[in-house]
Amino acid sequence: MTFFTRRDGALHVEDLPLTEIAARFGTPAYVYSRAALTAAFNAYKDALTGRDALVCYAVKANSNLAILNVFARLGAGFDIVSGGELARVIAAGGAPAKVVFSGVGKSADEMRAALTAGILCFNVESAAELDQLNTVAGELGKKAPISLRVNPNVDPKTHPYISTGLKSNKFGVAFEDARSLYRRAATLPNIEIHGLDCHIGSQLLDPAPAAEAAEKVLGLADELAADGIILSHLDFGGGMGIRYSDEHVPSATEYLAAILKLTAGRKEKLLFEPGRSLVGNAGLLLTKVEVLKPGSEKNFAIIDAAMNDLMRPALYDAFHDIVPVTERDATVHCWEIVGPVCESGDFLGHARNLAIDTGDLLAILSAGAYGMTMSSNYNTRPRAVEILVDGDTAHVIRQRESISALFALESTLP
Ligand code: LLP
Repeated sequence: MTFFTRRDGALHVEDLPLTEIAARFGTPAYVYSRAALTAAFNAYKDALTGRDALVCYAVKANSNLAILNVFARLGAGFDIVSGGELARVIAAGGAPAKVVFSGVGKSADEMRAALTAGILCFNVESAAELDQLNTVAGELGKKAPISLRVNPNVDPKTHPYISTGLKSNKFGVAFEDARSLYRRAATLPNIEIHGLDCHIGSQLLDPAPAAEAAEKVLGLADELAADGIILSHLDFGGGMGIRYSDEHVPSATEYLAAILKLTAGRKEKLLFEPGRSLVGNAGLLLTKVEVLKPGSEKNFAIIDAAMNDLMRPALYDAFHDIVPVTERDATVHCWEIVGPVCESGDFLGHARNLAIDTGDLLAILSAGAYGMTMSSNYNTRPRAVEILVDGDTAHVIRQRESISALFALESTLP
């Protein structure tokens, strides 16, 4: 975490103290480091040096325009799952020609928007989607570039909510059906077969399941070649995990090594869709202790961030490290770190040993991925401000929402 350092006891993001960010912009605030984003992207890209490869950042992990723009400038492509994400990529200066469109339920409108923009590829997840895409493309007089997303039935050994490559999941085309569906795709007049895609899950700490899926994908690509279907790219999805606590996390080079070995000498371009690993540890959620409520069973520290700001602990029981912004020389107590939302599931951290007082700033770490993008306005709480730090400069990349904006689209009855 070299982009987040403690200097004279005070936590900094790059060269800016978080105390200054809190004083200028208030809390809760998502704070990102441009250098950390850049380093994470370059590590992934560098692991692919010498290969014909494209890193398509999974927009869902963090879709702020400034962050998309940082990646676009570094040459990234993008993995999108909605027309909304496509519009964001375009608004952020991303190239539609480097966009892959994943997702199990693309609407006809979304297909039209993506065809009109000229995306690189649709990752098609069902026979019905293939037919609809063929129809929509025909209406526009275009050919839709496709991969089938296959479900290799590999257990990624991660949280069940973020496992996607097992037969029991809703994602992808069953592996045993893929070959015949490709043959059918080849007969459709408005479909052009470009690739083959798989994504088995998220927060993978062991590269082995991803390699196992890749092996299956390569076998299938060879069977397709025997059918006369020649692919121009292979998309291995995202999923590389990050360190939240003390997990051993492979580097991008280690994570990709097996896939690169398996694909050595092949002609297809390699695509990847990393999300979390490019942004997760490049951001934190800055928050303030509002109320301390010591009790006989538990001590509660109520902070000004809540499950609506960072849903991962409530939804997945996910662990995020929580550290004081300024260390104080006081007694350490064990705290339940909770938000003000009216739900018992509104916690950010259980049993954290901290020396804190009312008004102290805390940093909830590793919050750059699936933090802001999964936030909500529950309890009519405005979403946090987002700040991107670049050296000693703080850029507001999303203003804090105003309360009036939260109900601006609503009306009372006439
Ligand atoms: N490609 C596809 C088709 C995906 O569904 C996903 C993530 C990715 C790429 C990016 O995966 P990553 O590199 O970020 O692991 N909200 C959950 C994570 C959900 C992941 C959904 N799909 C969380 O907070 O842990």
